[in-house]
Amino acid sequence: MKFFVDTADTKDITELVTTGLLDGVTTNPSLIHKAGRNFLDVVREICGIVDGPVSAEVVALDHLTMMREADVLRKIADNVCVKVPLTVDGLKTCKALTHEGTQVNVTLCFSPNQALLAAKAGATFISPFVGRLDDNGFDGMQLISDIRLIYDNYGFETEILVASVRHPVHVLESAKIGADVMTAPPSVIKALFNHVLTDKGIAGFLADWEKTGQKIV
Ligand code: G3P
Repeated sequence: MKFFVDTADTKDITELVTTGLLDGVTTNPSLIHKAGRNFLDVVREICGIVDGPVSAEVVALDHLTMMREADVLRKIADNVCVKVPLTVDGLKTCKALTHEGTQVNVTLCFSPNQALLAAKAGATFISPFVGRLDDNGFDGMQLISDIRLIYDNYGFETEILVASVRHPVHVLESAKIGADVMTAPPSVIKALFNHVLTDKGIAGFLADWEKTGQKIV
C-alpha cells in the first residue's frame, strides 16, 4: 500500500521524505488555508520535494472553468495530480484530463456508486473519505471493501486512495482490505512507527548492553 501525506506543510513533508516511505502528497483547499501560503507556490515547492503524485484541487464548479484551473495546475510540474470533486462536471473534467494523460484524483467520494462512476471516467485515484463517514454514523471502512469488490469485479485500474484517515486503525483496515493508497495527516503516519513494547525492548537491550562495557563503533 502506498503512503501519501495529507498536508500542505512543507516542513512535515520534508521530514517524512527522509524516511524513504512517502509515496505522494494530497492537499485540499482547507489544508492550503491552514498553511497560509500561496496555493501555486506551495504546490510547486511540494512537487520539488516528492517524486510521487501531488494532488492539487480545482475550486471551480463548472467543467470549463475546472479545465482552465487544471491547466494552470498541471503546468506546475509533471507530478501534479489534478483533484476534482465527485460531481457531473468533476467527472467530465476527469475524463477529459485523463484522456490528455493528466493524473486525476476524484475526491469527496462517499458511496460505492460514486466510485464506480469515477472509475468509468478513468480516474487515476478515487478518494473515499472514511473519517467523515464515521463521524456521521456510517461505516467508512465498509465503503472501502465495497469499492475494492466492485473494482476487482471489472478490473478497473483506478487506485483506491483512502482519505480522511483519522487514526492508525484506519490504516490497518485499509491494508487488510487491499486499498492501493492511503493518505493521512503527518501525526497519523508518525504514530504508525510507535509501540510501547518497542520502546520498552530498546530500553532493556541498551541497559544490558551498557553492562557489557563494549562498543560497536
Ligand atoms: O484531503 C482529503 C481528506 O483526507 C480530508 O480529511 O480529515 O478533513 O476529513 P478530513
